[in-house]
Amino acid sequence: MTAFYLSKPYDPPRAPKNLPLDQPWALLGGNSPQEFMKAYWHKKPLLVRGAIPAFELAKQLGEPLGSAISAEELFKIAGNDVVESRLIQAKPWSFADGPFKKKSIPPLESPDWTLLLQGMEARHPAAAKILSWFRFIPDARLDDLMISIAGPGGGVGPHFDSYDVFLIQMSGRRRWRISEQRDLSLNPNLPLKILKNFKVEQEWVLEPGDMLYLPPHVAHDGVALDAGCQTWSVGFRAQSYKEILQEGLWRLAESLEDIPELDQRFADPQQRATACAEQLPDEIIQQVTQKLKGLKLDRVETFLPGIAAYLSEPKPQAYFDGASNDVSPEEFQQRLQKESLRPHPQTRLLALGDRIYCNGEEVSNSQARPIQLAWRSLAAKKQFKGKIGKIGSNNSLFEAFEAGWLVF
Ligand code: SIN
Ligand code: CO
Repeated sequence: MTAFYLSKPYDPPRAPKNLPLDQPWALLGGNSPQEFMKAYWHKKPLLVRGAIPAFELAKQLGEPLGSAISAEELFKIAGNDVVESRLIQAKPWSFADGPFKKKSIPPLESPDWTLLLQGMEARHPAAAKILSWFRFIPDARLDDLMISIAGPGGGVGPHFDSYDVFLIQMSGRRRWRISEQRDLSLNPNLPLKILKNFKVEQEWVLEPGDMLYLPPHVAHDGVALDAGCQTWSVGFRAQSYKEILQEGLWRLAESLEDIPELDQRFADPQQRATACAEQLPDEIIQQVTQKLKGLKLDRVETFLPGIAAYLSEPKPQAYFDGASNDVSPEEFQQRLQKESLRPHPQTRLLALGDRIYCNGEEVSNSQARPIQLAWRSLAAKKQFKGKIGKIGSNNSLFEAFEAGWLVF
């Protein structure tokens, strides 16, 4: 048995409310978040030794730290059918989708397997705390925190991702090999997305507390060196321009429902006798031009609410259990003065100026001022506590709480 089984679990601190964006961070290899974004983000890889200094310090004191989440806890989570999980076997390559019973996961010491668990920020507070340190990057870009646990030799093979990723070593060692090669063609004969020709350019062995940042399309291959090797990946997302525009346009089209004057029918008392009856009438073209100007459809501001609503959609697998929040409006109001209300870990919140979008809906629209301020605090600080006044029939905060989107 290796020493890290006997180690104390690492207890990550929650990030401060105001992140020091101009100070050097150990997590970013001594770069400030400003410097990191300028020099590395979406540009080039960065290896950070001792990104979480607590691991090295504890080792020097002879009390090594282990992952904040034990292998047993991870295996239990893998049995949950609302958690996205995958079990990958190398030599030869094969994979299965979860949920997994404990007995279908190989023992930690057995070789060449990896279990991947997505959306872990919703399953364990330690994962949510780790994620809180990455809020120097806009929430709209963040995807989730994935945890991999593997036996020696386990990995997902040489591949590339279309997204940025921070790979944090949390338990055991992993050897990372990377390449900025142009040839990203995949082997067509394998069940996984594995590169046909991986040409290693750099190689490191990461110890617990080390981190590797990779921008999109850098080829990489991580192989576990120890039983129970855990890598925590902070993953980002980027939609295609087509997706962003289509989703914004759909929502804009739907919002025309709220403009009653558009129900009026087209009228053409000015239409003249025409010799080109097959042509779309100028009357329609001119009137539509006027309507588009009136609706400001030629201005980006008109599109942004739809885009913000779209980007605040939760993951399709997100599950909210509102039934457990069976509290009267009065009790809710009183609890809010004593306890902090927080977004459920799978809730997505985005702000567009003072407008707040929660799980795909604008929640600040026509709300009383204290409710609007509560939403702003929830979006910016991920919490709210205080007075909100009497709860009437239109209260998006209470409704979101009842839906399980917000929790105490
Ligand atoms: C892993 O943690 O094993 C895989 C992560 C990745 O390569 O993106
Ligand atoms: Co990857």
